[in-house]
Amino acid sequence: MCGIIGYIGEKNASPILIQGLRKLEYRGYDSAGVAIQDGDTIARVRSVGKIENLAARAATEKLPGTVGIAHTRWATHGGVTEENAHPHTDQSESLVLVHNGIVENYREIKEQLGSEHIYNSETDSEILAHLIGEHIKESDGKLTEESFRLAVECALKEVRGTYGLVVMHKDVPDYLIVARMGSPLVIGVGTDGYYIASDATPMLAYTKKVIFLEDGEIACVSKTDMQTFNLKDECVVKCVEEIEWNQEQAEKQGYEDFMLKEIHDQPTVFEDAIRGRFNVEEGTAHLGGLNMTEEEMHSVKRIVLIACGTASYASMVGKYAFERLAGIPTEVDVASEFRYRDPIIDKHTLVFGVSQSGETADTLAALREAKRKGAFVRGIVNVVGSTIARETDGGTYIHAGPELAVASTKAYTNMVAILLLYALQFGRLKRVALATGERMLHALLEIPQKMNEILDTAEQIKTIAKVYANYDHMFFIGRGINYPVALEGSIKLKEISYIHSEAYPGGELKHGPMALLSEDFPVFGIMTKDQLYDKMRSNIEEVRARKAPVILIASQGDDTAKELGEHVMYTPKTMELLQPLLNTVILQLFSYYVAKELGRDVDRPRNLAKSVTVE
Ligand code: AGP
Repeated sequence: MCGIIGYIGEKNASPILIQGLRKLEYRGYDSAGVAIQDGDTIARVRSVGKIENLAARAATEKLPGTVGIAHTRWATHGGVTEENAHPHTDQSESLVLVHNGIVENYREIKEQLGSEHIYNSETDSEILAHLIGEHIKESDGKLTEESFRLAVECALKEVRGTYGLVVMHKDVPDYLIVARMGSPLVIGVGTDGYYIASDATPMLAYTKKVIFLEDGEIACVSKTDMQTFNLKDECVVKCVEEIEWNQEQAEKQGYEDFMLKEIHDQPTVFEDAIRGRFNVEEGTAHLGGLNMTEEEMHSVKRIVLIACGTASYASMVGKYAFERLAGIPTEVDVASEFRYRDPIIDKHTLVFGVSQSGETADTLAALREAKRKGAFVRGIVNVVGSTIARETDGGTYIHAGPELAVASTKAYTNMVAILLLYALQFGRLKRVALATGERMLHALLEIPQKMNEILDTAEQIKTIAKVYANYDHMFFIGRGINYPVALEGSIKLKEISYIHSEAYPGGELKHGPMALLSEDFPVFGIMTKDQLYDKMRSNIEEVRARKAPVILIASQGDDTAKELGEHVMYTPKTMELLQPLLNTVILQLFSYYVAKELGRDVDRPRNLAKSVTVE
């Protein structure tokens, strides 16, 4: 996700801002920029690529001044270009802004501002800068600190979506306005000025005294003072906190590992995945990136989901959803196999490439093959501007933010979210009733809170995980929509703990694998309440008859599960097709804590790479 840096004080701002951006590189970015105020002028420099490119430009242009803002961009709206890089200006080029977040209603705002507004970028952030500039134009007389603040407050009350932003104006020197709604911002209180950043990491070099802004708060910062307000322009009292984190902990925002941080990111990034992409009243999804007419959508006779590893298990959940909701035959193809088979692909086939990195060589090659054979080819990827995103004829970004741990967690659940929305969008064209669509969307909106319920049980899951850390083998079993969940649970365990594990459909064990069961061979059963629950219970009973220890995921309220499992972890209930979004979070935490118990490097497991860009 994007990173923000600001500084106002007595020191030369340029080196502080550039160094601060370097400390935020871990968040992932594709372009960067800086703006520095010197008297009544604001100089701005932006560049694509690495911070070093920006630093070289800034050194050449010699940016004097002790007040400035800077930004690393993780593209969400608009490609990776210098014009799309922040900071952005308003129409008059007097105001300069950096923004982290998504302005959901940017189209309406752009329309409301009218055609006299000329934009230089494709971003929602620039429209936000123009909106604030418009409110400044409406304020009477010379712009003061107060009228500047009021204009920002008025503008932000019109915004739907999320923002962390810092804005400055050439007519109000030595004054930064900082605002937060959904995208964190921290203000460091130094002996030589104030430091502003998306997280505490960049300011540890200068101060450990920080103020955490809350959603809906605005901070007005001069060189010697800071005042905080809410959007009703009421003063808010903030306390200065002392952070104890070291540099590395700060990057992980206090979590021990990136993987744990990313597991806990899921409720937030899930909201980012679905935001603005559905309409409850119509009971359907609107994924504009599909880039297909309704006639073309009706012409689709088969869907093929091409992916590798965890992305293929997310795709398997999508298979169940497409077939159940849209009634379209759907298959999941492992990319490395697809590309060497003779796949039956034609103009009535819709192929999705599902990939976090958007760079997986096998997936990319398979998509090129599908394109050659005339299919509709679309991407479901996380990294904006990635090769798969560029080579497909449309698709959807999953908005999971940078996923730094090798083991995929938040990208998996966001892929499932997008696949469910696509299945609903096709389903509502064909056979899904409005009421069903409404019910599904309401259930989707409850997922973040239900994920948080599971995350709140992390300590119990940790206790159970420790019991199973010293086994050499484990089976994961599930039926129906929970079979892909079993596959995902199995890959999570094996790739970070190095314990051998395999996943099977619950009904398959008796066809051979059961020969391996003993008291030394635990089985992890996913037994949530759904149409196959009774069948799954029988499979678990078969396992118990072979003396294998049983761990279960069961639905809240299913007290009988305790009769079947040595250990039971409970999950909130949701619609059957959405249940993988919750069950998988338990498996992620289970695998994480098993691996931690074994002292593994969970973020960088042996033999693995985050993005497999070779065959
Ligand atoms: C997931 O935990 C693994 N790191 C791996 O299976 C990964 O999902 C696979 O390599 C596909 O990567 P992609 O999503 O970037 O294409």
